[in-house]
Amino acid sequence: PTGFTGRHFLKELDFTQEEFRGLVGLAAELKAAKRAGTETPYLRGKNIALIFEKTSTRTRCAFEVAAADQGASTTYLDPSGSQIGHKESAKDTARVLGRMFDAIEYRGDGQDIVEELAAHAGVPVYNGLTDDWHPTQMLADVLTMTEHSAKPLTEIAFAYLGDARFNMGNSYLVTGALLGMDVRLVAPKTYWPAQDVVDRARELAAASGARVTLTESLDDGVRGADFVATDVWVSMGEPQEVWAERIGALAPYAVTMDVLRATGNPDVKFLHCLPAFHDLGTKVGREIHERYGLRSLEVTDEVFESAHSVVFDEAENRLHTIKAIMVATLA
Ligand code: CP
Ligand code: NVA
Repeated sequence: PTGFTGRHFLKELDFTQEEFRGLVGLAAELKAAKRAGTETPYLRGKNIALIFEKTSTRTRCAFEVAAADQGASTTYLDPSGSQIGHKESAKDTARVLGRMFDAIEYRGDGQDIVEELAAHAGVPVYNGLTDDWHPTQMLADVLTMTEHSAKPLTEIAFAYLGDARFNMGNSYLVTGALLGMDVRLVAPKTYWPAQDVVDRARELAAASGARVTLTESLDDGVRGADFVATDVWVSMGEPQEVWAERIGALAPYAVTMDVLRATGNPDVKFLHCLPAFHDLGTKVGREIHERYGLRSLEVTDEVFESAHSVVFDEAENRLHTIKAIMVATLA
């Protein structure tokens, strides 16, 4: 796709439907080339800075492997290993790194920080997750949906269950609206996105023909869905004390086999950006089990390990889609 050179990748709202689909299409091509062993390295000699003020497995690895596949090099700045935010402003950091690197990835709390970096870096800045948006994840999820459905995007229905007032809920809502999909957020009202996000999604939907639904009703929300998605109930940066409140509010919206059956679609697929609490395989999972007696949170192990689950395709697609962003903006 053309028209991406030198651009930032900060949030879904910055792109047209055609542009977003173009990036997903490029990712599919890059994936096929990698599989066939015919990948062309378009990013030889490029240097990419990766700033992570929060932890990561997928996003960091996707950037590093994608860059290596394309002939570029990366420098990882961990949550404590740089001056940003502690001794140096985002504006100054941007102007320094912009002199050394061809692009900068940033993961942290504030959307304002990644926007500030972008305003001053002079090179493309990529949002690797903020409290408000997770746009690289959306490219991966849309690619995964196109791979696991024979329908065109405009005929796909997907339901997101759980905490919808944060990055994943916001991003799913506007991405579905942008692409003309049937998108449903299924959660208690207090967990719906902020009104300005809902308003933007409704504007996009009016233009794209998308159906946008926010509902507290699980049955209405999932009926006929092709994909059911969820996310952790406590996000990075939130205090551990909120677990009790989240479990109380969101337990009815956990993705169980009953929820998948309620879609009425025997081929329904399950998505999760990961990491997920579906068993006792983590320290936090074991603590939750001890304290609240639960063996899983947002999704049961049965669903997670079932044939409905496409979460590892989704995780792999982080690589191909992040590669597409770098190739489109830098090659
Ligand atoms: N889905 C996702 O962003 O994973 P990481 O936090 O591991 O990067
Ligand atoms: N909502 C989650 C997404 C993790 C990829 C978080 O912000 O921690």
